[in-house]
Amino acid sequence: MPKQIKQRDLTEVLSSEQKKYFPSKTIIKNANVPDYEKTLKKAARNPEKFWEEAAQDVHWFKKWDKLIDKSKKPFYKWFVGGKCNLAYNALDRHIEGENKNKLAIIWEDETGKTKKYTYFELYEEVNKMANALRGIGIKKGDRVAIYMPNIPEIAISMLACAKIGAMHSVVYAGFSSGALEGRIKDARAKILITADGSFRRGKIIDLKKIVDGAVKNCKTIKKVIVAKNNGAKIKFNKRRDIWFHDFVKGQSTEAKTAQMNAEDPAFVLYTSGTTSKPKGIIHVHGGYAVGVLRTIKWVFDLKGDEIFWCTADPGWITGHSYIIYGPLMAGVTTVMYEGVPDVPTPDRIWKVVEKYKVNVLYTAPTLIRAMMRYGAKWPRKHKMKSLRILGSVGEPINPEAWKWFYNHVGKRRCPIMDTWWQTETGMNMITPLPSAPLKAGSACKPFPGIIADVVDKKGKRVPAGKGGYLIIKNQWPSMIRTIFNNPKRYLKTYWSQVKGAYFAGDVAFRDKDGYFWIQGRTDDVLKIAGHRIGTAEVESAFVAHKAVVEAGAIGVPDELRGEVIKAFIILKKGIKGTEKLQKDLKMIVRKNLGPIAVIKEIEFVEKLPKTRSGKIMRRVLKAKELGLPLGDTSSLV
Ligand code: WTA
Repeated sequence: MPKQIKQRDLTEVLSSEQKKYFPSKTIIKNANVPDYEKTLKKAARNPEKFWEEAAQDVHWFKKWDKLIDKSKKPFYKWFVGGKCNLAYNALDRHIEGENKNKLAIIWEDETGKTKKYTYFELYEEVNKMANALRGIGIKKGDRVAIYMPNIPEIAISMLACAKIGAMHSVVYAGFSSGALEGRIKDARAKILITADGSFRRGKIIDLKKIVDGAVKNCKTIKKVIVAKNNGAKIKFNKRRDIWFHDFVKGQSTEAKTAQMNAEDPAFVLYTSGTTSKPKGIIHVHGGYAVGVLRTIKWVFDLKGDEIFWCTADPGWITGHSYIIYGPLMAGVTTVMYEGVPDVPTPDRIWKVVEKYKVNVLYTAPTLIRAMMRYGAKWPRKHKMKSLRILGSVGEPINPEAWKWFYNHVGKRRCPIMDTWWQTETGMNMITPLPSAPLKAGSACKPFPGIIADVVDKKGKRVPAGKGGYLIIKNQWPSMIRTIFNNPKRYLKTYWSQVKGAYFAGDVAFRDKDGYFWIQGRTDDVLKIAGHRIGTAEVESAFVAHKAVVEAGAIGVPDELRGEVIKAFIILKKGIKGTEKLQKDLKMIVRKNLGPIAVIKEIEFVEKLPKTRSGKIMRRVLKAKELGLPLGDTSSLV
């Protein structure tokens, strides 16, 4: 794990081996982008021209009049006057061409059930769903909440929304009722699409029950559409609920695709920030399509006949961009796997790679570390000759995991693309390309057409090896447009720290070769097993318990998950901090947020360190916990 270190000592985290280029023979010679440095230099001369060229890969009903409108900074607009549709690019355009009968989706779940859809089959399913949605009055701009496992119906639902110009708001199906309810309410979604349930290690998860708990308090939801997945017995509210298969029954397999303005929102995706209220990140039809298509083609070297497996969940941005929209826009086959990767044996994941001859495997450090624990004998059983390129995303990858992935999964043949990016950026931002020399644990350099830097509080570039704030200095097509219903928060969160630059909220440093090393968040956002959760959300879940007066939550390093939660709790007078209470408190967080908020420890305290204005100083809690210097405590009461 990256050690917790003082910022000025950051170079010390690099071993002498890491400082050098990884001695690999993996540079792919005939890659889509053959000359890495030359490509970077060319794009840097005129990033906007680079993106204008990239936009040629996308289908436009009408070409844009203006590439970028900067008149209302930082509310940038791209491809102004252009008309397009994200779903058209993912589906319709393939139907007219040679991809019509190619597999679009290969799906498998933990129990071994499989389904396959060609582009044409998927297109027809999406059209039926689009017609059904229109039939109940869903219009352009309406929000449709989606709370589903990783099953084909989630792709069908998302694409159908995009097709008719409605905005989907997918909520990760590991969140519980409270979190789902908050997100539905903020989006004021009109309907919710879900499933009866999912499996986890053979255990049935009753998703519908979670949905019922959330929706009973959401007045805007008129209908709940339920896909049959595991056939579990569920409660059905006859007036409100309808089965997915009944909903689309009899619908035409032809549907009109809405011609959207490039800047029309395609979806909202909630992500955790520094307050307890998650932010609804807005992405649009035009720019998002351009950024995602260009990155997936270049980073993963897609030529058109690949089998692409991204192990994320569609409920996160990685799933949106690199399970659904990216692979489909690129016309390759996307693998959707629902369940855990180590059931019934620890090599299930490698079996799936072999079975479907996966060419690109894009996964997360936590999953790699979990597989490492079982030992190399499991991947060794499988030659996985189809693999060409590996990818990592979601949290910093420690060199041990990087090397294990490289040696035992990629068999020293496949380069690893360690991609740094965010819900807000929509696409990979700092990443190698297959023609780049690699360093184990570095996300390499910014993608062509992206200008990133590491700066101090005043926005001044810090020297190589010195830690600082990661910023993006230019605009890119798939950038966040605003926070849903909260433009002020958009300004404050991303544009008020460093003048004129996008503030990512991460700490990083550059080495002398210009390679970026991402260290983690600077704010109160946690990455637990790659899942993004705000400490404030966790704290408000604790405070919902009647015994709790106040709570402070911090992230502490964890070998497997990267980070987990330690909580400091002040109890009401007279209440004893028993073991039973600790258990109850863990349960309430699970109930309000979901199992992804992993709590390692709860400590009952009398006081919490606070600023004069009454804010909990989590930084102080963290420094104490980890035995680090306290830093500036002038505002501490
Ligand atoms: C972290 C996930 C190091 C980072 C796509 C970022 C990473 C946050 C990497 C965004 C990486 C993502 N190396 N850290 N390759 N990729 N992160 O919105 O802290 O869920 O700010 O998007 O994940 O998380 P989000």
